Amino acid sequence: MTEIAIEFRSVFKKFDDFVAIRNLNLLIRKQEFLVLLGPSGCGKSTILNLLAGIEDPTSGEIFVNGKLVNYLLPRYRNVAMVFQSYALYPHMTVAKNIEYPLKSDKGLSRNRDKITKMIAQAAELVDITDQLSKKPPALSGGQRQRVALARALVRDPEVFLMDEPLSNLDAQLRDTMRYHLINLHRKIGKATIYVTHDQQEAMTMADRIVVMNEGSAQQIGTPLEIYNSPVNKFVAGFVGHPRMNFLPGKSLGNRSVQVGEFKLTSSRDTGQKGTPLVVGLRPTDAKSKKGYNNVEGKITAREFTGTDTILTLSSGSIEGVRFRHIGGGSDIEGDTACFSYAPENVHIFNEDGKGRFS
Ligand SMILES: Nc1ncnc2c1ncn2[C@@H]1O[C@H](COP(=O)(O)OP(=O)(O)OP(=O)(O)O)[C@@H](O)[C@H]1O
Ligand SMILES: [Mg+2]
Repeated sequence: MTEIAIEFRSVFKKFDDFVAIRNLNLLIRKQEFLVLLGPSGCGKSTILNLLAGIEDPTSGEIFVNGKLVNYLLPRYRNVAMVFQSYALYPHMTVAKNIEYPLKSDKGLSRNRDKITKMIAQAAELVDITDQLSKKPPALSGGQRQRVALARALVRDPEVFLMDEPLSNLDAQLRDTMRYHLINLHRKIGKATIYVTHDQQEAMTMADRIVVMNEGSAQQIGTPLEIYNSPVNKFVAGFVGHPRMNFLPGKSLGNRSVQVGEFKLTSSRDTGQKGTPLVVGLRPTDAKSKKGYNNVEGKITAREFTGTDTILTLSSGSIEGVRFRHIGGGSDIEGDTACFSYAPENVHIFNEDGKGRFS
């Protein structure tokens, strides 16, 4: 049996009348790297705050290692949090900053040798051993981020919570730190919940992703499941770049749909004949030649990305549909282009966008 580190059971969080978290049910395995992904205000930080004990749930139960923690003070939960802002003390040395969470442990405070060893171990894990005597203002953004990580690591917590920890770093450093964080996670193997609104970050780092919107978990799954089988229009539109095209269509029955002048076959259920629906086509799934499921139109815009060209096509009632032309570069606005789609890449959603047929 897989061991469960964290469980949310029917958790609601209200701020006055506003429901910030709606019926959250979530199991997180020991050693799992779970990413909470969603737009600003969807409730990501609130979930971390509930687990850390900074906020209390309005109803529902939260368990850490099988133990109910609803009524447990934050310092007894064995949960460490890393914030976007790092929240380091500028007047203390790096070593003192890392030591800070150990202060509440009275038994430990008499054992100076042990404390020094714990600081050294945490610093070594994030490779800042040579910065211990400096103060935070003398460090780069990436080094400060590592100090914040070391401070979270020093108590050897059961669970790590990270709230957009890389969003203050430039793109290149963010890439490097992602790699370091995943390596660190593999080394220490503790359950981690990582918050981001960056779908690419979620896809590259997560064992599993929870896609959130307006306080509700929309879908929970591996990056591949979320990408290949989004359960609704929100998830489909949030994950993948360039964004999925959504086109109004009608079911023809037998897993086929009419979209404008085109008939497409999907591997998914399309509901009863005549049902209005939304067809989702990822620009990146397009094949740049005529095939089985074709969409054709006039090129109205082109964006050259280096390796590919993103073409925008219009045809009759269908406007502004984007396709990736691998390579490309010689396409001319006003020319006609044709793309085809494998049936498994023709996504089908209910007209209201809230679900799919199967
Ligand atoms: N203490 C509070 N009092 C009232 N409303 C709150 C409080 N904390 C959060 N909220 C509201 O709850 C919702 C969820 O907030 P939360 O901070 O969890 O969002 P988030 O997903 O972390 O967003 P961001 O990506 O911007 O950090 C927001 O609409 C926010 O305004
Ligand atoms: Mg937040």
